[in-house]
Amino acid sequence: MTEDSVFLKACRREETPYTPVWLMRQAGRYMKDYRLLRERTPFLDICKNKDLVTEITIGAQEKIGADAAIIFSDILLIVEPFGFDLSYLKGDGPSIRRAPSTGSARGSGQRRGARALRTAEDVERLPDIDPEESLGFLMEAIRQTRRALKPEVPLIGFAGAPFTLASYLIEGGASKDFAATKEWMRRRPGAWGVLMEKIARATAKYLNAQVRAGAQALQIFDSWVGCLSAEEYKNFALPHSAALIRSLDQGVPVIHFGTGTDPFLELFSRAGGDVIGVDHRVRLDEARERIGTKQAIQGNLDPQLLSTGSLAEIKRGVQSILKQAAGRSGHIFNLGHGVLPETPPKNVVALIQMVHELSQR
Ligand code: CP3
Repeated sequence: MTEDSVFLKACRREETPYTPVWLMRQAGRYMKDYRLLRERTPFLDICKNKDLVTEITIGAQEKIGADAAIIFSDILLIVEPFGFDLSYLKGDGPSIRRAPSTGSARGSGQRRGARALRTAEDVERLPDIDPEESLGFLMEAIRQTRRALKPEVPLIGFAGAPFTLASYLIEGGASKDFAATKEWMRRRPGAWGVLMEKIARATAKYLNAQVRAGAQALQIFDSWVGCLSAEEYKNFALPHSAALIRSLDQGVPVIHFGTGTDPFLELFSRAGGDVIGVDHRVRLDEARERIGTKQAIQGNLDPQLLSTGSLAEIKRGVQSILKQAAGRSGHIFNLGHGVLPETPPKNVVALIQMVHELSQR
């Protein structure tokens, strides 16, 4: 039944009666219920509580009427089994720090608050992880959510791409210029390669475990890859994204999403994926030309338009994208990036309805 859903059909580039739509960050801070919950419960505690994850994942899908649900989690959870401290600071975004070494006397040992990953030795020391076990809470949440979700609604699992995760480990959090990451790539290409291989291997295990638990599609988020030039992408990121995608068990569609990929979209799509996710800075029809016809495409309404636009403006934006998609099979409607926290929920609900109505064939 789920296999016949419009979303999975579109991933396979089959004809659908209308264009399926779901939204990155469709569950989260733009929703009042979520903000209320967050006043009482830290974000990581929510992610590790399968009942809350199930409730948030399904609640969001049902409230907005999306054609797929995405499991409520975060791309950074995997840094904990790698041995780092993860926290989300109010207003400042995530922080990844080196965990204080266990067993050391108070005041000695590694300094807490130091950037997570600094040297080639740090890379060598990264443990081989078994996400099935160390991130088992997510697998349980996926199993439970899959059981509770309407049978016709597919469930998407996800992870960060190697480049985006490496940048978080090296920068220790959000970054504007990714200076430390680029310096590392340039000066220590050998250690960079080892780091990316380790991340890709762990992420493949993580995603395959999500599929075994019940995820029916996977999305790989390369959210910050747009800071690279085409040349850098080709040499330092593409081989590892490609290796990751090749290591995924066959059978569920893989959505390969990145922002700022306009300068190297051909390379990005060649790294793999059944569906290529594009942001709002590239025209969907041009992106389609550059990707070719062997992969489906996902995108790409500007999240800012959804947040601050009038319903009439949003409708024009939807019409423009649907016109560019030209009724051809293999288009999944989404934003160019995640729903912004300030977005009025009524705009989100209206958007999903508009896509369904305006794309009827
Ligand atoms: O899409 C969904 O509804 C599922 C949930 C989801 C979250 N994070 C929940 C979350 C998904 C798919 C993600 C992926 C994610 N996480 C990405 C890729 C998508 C993108 O936006 O590029 C990235 C880069 C992260 C890292 C991350 N997690 C950041 C930078 C932040 C803080 C700032 C922000 O954008 O929210 C988070 C925290 C986070 N992840 C929140 C949520 C709901 C907010 C936590 C809170 O309630 O304070």
